[in-house]
Amino acid sequence: MRSLVLLIALLGCSHKVNVVQVTAPLKRSQYEATAHHEMVATQGEATSLATIETFKNGGNIIDAFITASFMISVERPQSTGIGGGGFLLYFSRKENKVYAFDFREVAPVLSREKMFLTDKGVPQPLLSQQGPLAVATPGLVSGLYDIHQRFGKLPWHKCIAPAIKLAREGFPVYDHLKMAMEDRKHVLAADPEAKRIFLRDQGSVPALGSLLIQEDLAKTFEIIAQEGKAGFYRGRVAKSITHTVRSKRGILTDKDLRDYRMKERMPVQGAYKGLKVFSMPPPSSGGVHVIQILKMLSPYKLKKMGPQSTQATHLIANALQRAFMDRAHYLGDPDFQAVPVDRLLNDKYLSQLSRSLQTSHATSAKDLKLLPLPYESTETTHFSLADGEGNLVASTQTINGWFGSGVVAKGTGIVLNNEMDDFAQKVSALNLFGAVGGEHNLIEPKKRPLSSMSPTIILKGDEPLMALGSPSGTKIISCVAQTILNAVEFEMPLYESVAATRIHQQWLPDLLKIESPFLSEKVESELKRMGHNVVHEKLGCSVQAIKKQGPLWVGVSDPRGEGLAIGH
Ligand code: DON
Repeated sequence: MRSLVLLIALLGCSHKVNVVQVTAPLKRSQYEATAHHEMVATQGEATSLATIETFKNGGNIIDAFITASFMISVERPQSTGIGGGGFLLYFSRKENKVYAFDFREVAPVLSREKMFLTDKGVPQPLLSQQGPLAVATPGLVSGLYDIHQRFGKLPWHKCIAPAIKLAREGFPVYDHLKMAMEDRKHVLAADPEAKRIFLRDQGSVPALGSLLIQEDLAKTFEIIAQEGKAGFYRGRVAKSITHTVRSKRGILTDKDLRDYRMKERMPVQGAYKGLKVFSMPPPSSGGVHVIQILKMLSPYKLKKMGPQSTQATHLIANALQRAFMDRAHYLGDPDFQAVPVDRLLNDKYLSQLSRSLQTSHATSAKDLKLLPLPYESTETTHFSLADGEGNLVASTQTINGWFGSGVVAKGTGIVLNNEMDDFAQKVSALNLFGAVGGEHNLIEPKKRPLSSMSPTIILKGDEPLMALGSPSGTKIISCVAQTILNAVEFEMPLYESVAATRIHQQWLPDLLKIESPFLSEKVESELKRMGHNVVHEKLGCSVQAIKKQGPLWVGVSDPRGEGLAIGH
């Protein structure tokens, strides 16, 4: 991977040439594709290839979604899997409707608000990040099965077959997988099943290019292919999950698994530059904040300022900071506490916030004050799919940290999530992503932990325009919002919209993170002079985006990763 400075003459202001920093891969053809019918952008090469095959075999977009979900569970066991959960946004062109499905994990019934605190009330992040107590009740299989029952066309088992084959035959260990294995080696080594599957003799990490075979997972997938979701939530697989967790003094019970239900929710929606943006509602914070950020910025002439200019970057950083302060204060599972979504997306409130962006100096986190809300009458993965009928899928799925809790249910090959860490151990405690814990996100039995996952669909009128999303914890919100700004406000081509350098500001810690290739020295020193605490840091996003361009779909898999965009 190398970085490049691209000269982009932006459409609509051809007199002006802007220099934009983008990550440029050596093999751009892997990351960008165009097609007339179907388009797939995922974080795995084998996943994208199998998903396009499902389309070619007569599958519809939901069948393709099932193939992609099971395939990516095999190909990126560090990021996602059936031991985790996720969200789906689905635009059905025929019905002219965007659906939002929530198959997020839930806290086990025996969980307690203070379960991760010492007697003196001190947070213990390791307990919620690795081992049996970190595991929340998985939701992925329930979501996939119920969604397929409702909208799928091909038989369920046919959609899963390629993933069984990949798990059984294996695939060569690639860079990112090896890096994640190195990083979590101590956690994998502590669990005999994880060690047997993911490490080699004496607990060493497999060599790059050596085969990773997941035979137990293949067998578990076969059971699910035969029995549907019951194959996971009841019977032998369920028993093994709860037995493994309980034998390590965890709290997951058979009843937690039996009682798990996916939820259909109303997507959050916002008008932006004449487009309709739909995204994931709570228990994700992603949709609310992506829309807040876009709307706060829309009155400003960012395009005139230029992408990656000091002024545009300053305004974007300020918008991110304000959105993240709201996140810490208001967001949580709507089934437990009222989340004031309408008030957070209220036009008057957002224009007040928008006016507050225009500062000559960065606002320090401690000086940033919450504005009153208007009174109201009342390691993850993402993939995007499109088909020839104009349907869109945007789905983000996760087991949370790399290899989740590091616990593998005996004999099943299932890596269990560590989603309990997305809760606040107590108000103002930080989680794995440094997100500040708010009162609405404290642990309660059967509650869903707050997420940042932001699967997003954009329509122009009633026509599909874009589907996108990304992994990387709280940074997802910043990465998704900036990709939309690049494509819509700055009118960059989709590839550059995804590849351009991104920034991240999440209120606390009060830092302006800039990834490589960095912004120009001039812009960065101006931002520092304005009081931004600039640091250079990898952001870890991997945006998978699809956009309509004339009669074509353009698909882009983030060149920072190892994915593939492929069309038909
Ligand atoms: O739901 C969330 O916001 C997190 N559990 C997502 C985790 C994630 O993106 C890890 N990615 N690298």
